[in-house]
Amino acid sequence: MSNRIAVFGTGYLGATHAACMAELGHEVVGVDVDISKLAKLESGEVPFYEPGLEEVLKRNIANGRLRFSSSYHEAAEFADVHFVGVGTPQKRGEYAADLTYVNAVVDTLAPLLTRPALIVGKSTVPVGTAQKLANRVREIAPAGNEVELVWNPEFLREGYAVQDTLHPDRLVLGVDRQSEGWAEQIIREVYAQLLNEEIPLLVTDLATAELVKTAANAFLATKISFINAMSEVCEAAGADVSLLADAIGHDARIGRRFLNAGIGFGGGCLPKDIRAFMARAGELGADQALTFLREVDAINMRRRTRMVELTREALGGSLLGASVAVLGAAFKPDSDDVRDSPALNIAGQIQLQGANVTVYDPKAMENSKALFPTLNYATEAQEACRGADIILVLTEWKEFRQLDPRSIDGIVRKRMIIDGRNCLDANLWRQSGWTFRGLGRN
Ligand code: UDX
Repeated sequence: MSNRIAVFGTGYLGATHAACMAELGHEVVGVDVDISKLAKLESGEVPFYEPGLEEVLKRNIANGRLRFSSSYHEAAEFADVHFVGVGTPQKRGEYAADLTYVNAVVDTLAPLLTRPALIVGKSTVPVGTAQKLANRVREIAPAGNEVELVWNPEFLREGYAVQDTLHPDRLVLGVDRQSEGWAEQIIREVYAQLLNEEIPLLVTDLATAELVKTAANAFLATKISFINAMSEVCEAAGADVSLLADAIGHDARIGRRFLNAGIGFGGGCLPKDIRAFMARAGELGADQALTFLREVDAINMRRRTRMVELTREALGGSLLGASVAVLGAAFKPDSDDVRDSPALNIAGQIQLQGANVTVYDPKAMENSKALFPTLNYATEAQEACRGADIILVLTEWKEFRQLDPRSIDGIVRKRMIIDGRNCLDANLWRQSGWTFRGLGRN
């Protein structure tokens, strides 16, 4: 059965969700206030890099199931199910999440809902937000109690967004305690194909659903900072964190995934989500429960400083006047996202300390230039490495993992490389006559 769906927000989350809902057979309109983004999407172009999304987008525009609009009136008229997928960035100068965009969608949409409708929140919000919004919707929607608001957090990873949306590990649905059950029924229709694949659907109250998302991200951040803390100890003790991760990862209770030590986590989610979580816990009087996240954050930020120090040490104690090639700017491979990217942050710090930094990234050049216009940018890895005193690998793109030392032997000034992601074969580089260093490796 096909539903009529509106998706508000056409960023990484919203655009993917809109295209994937159409892929499931629904009729979908994607809504945004950014006209230039809409124009791109309408012509079948994804405004950011996300493998596989363009095909899904194009296919569903062509078959007429997917379109885009800036009109809330049109969306309210057309759809029965309204997904909210706008951003909740960190507030300037504060840890808390900025809910301006989520509030704006609800405040603009609800007064236009004159018949029964379901609003489904997907954005990551502080616990308690959904209940407030649910009350507000009932108050300001002409259809009153016939409009229900539920929360269905999104767990997609950039780089795997389509796969994660169409084949998630689980679906979580938070419903208002006053709900009569029809909201769950509609969600079961919307995700019928996924449920047929036996993807579990966990139905909870609103607060639990909101918390599932923040707890999951807090756990992942903690796992990464745990291994990065071990990395610090390995450096001090002359041990190897990669081998350590392999060995503890064999224990099924621990697991090897998300145990890659390096320059730490970044991106539009983990850093701001753990901070917003701490801020919210403070408001709830439960701040003690999350003080460990301060440490998780601190360990993570220390890795960036450590990488800068390691570079300075390798260059004989000063960065002044050195030529530094930085391979990777995105916060992780298969993404063009540079929000809170450790790679770009490190490149910036090194530049500010007097080095001449040249950056290359396979996809994130445009976004990097917009954020850090003062760095030098090369159009390919070889060009970035030309004349370099040292090479830093800061995002583990396949292209860099497969880099052949012989292809750059002749063009660098010094054969020195630091692996900030523990993604290179140290022996290969050393055997080729390079000085190789890794974070947390002897
Ligand atoms: C994350 C969550 O994984 C996802 O479920 C949620 O919906 C949004 O936030 P994403 O931001 O796309 O997704 O990136 P993720 O793959 O989780 O990586 C986050 C950061 O951690 C990256 O900077 C990555 O390089 C780093 N990381 C990841 C490590 O440093 N080590 C690891 O072992 C894994």
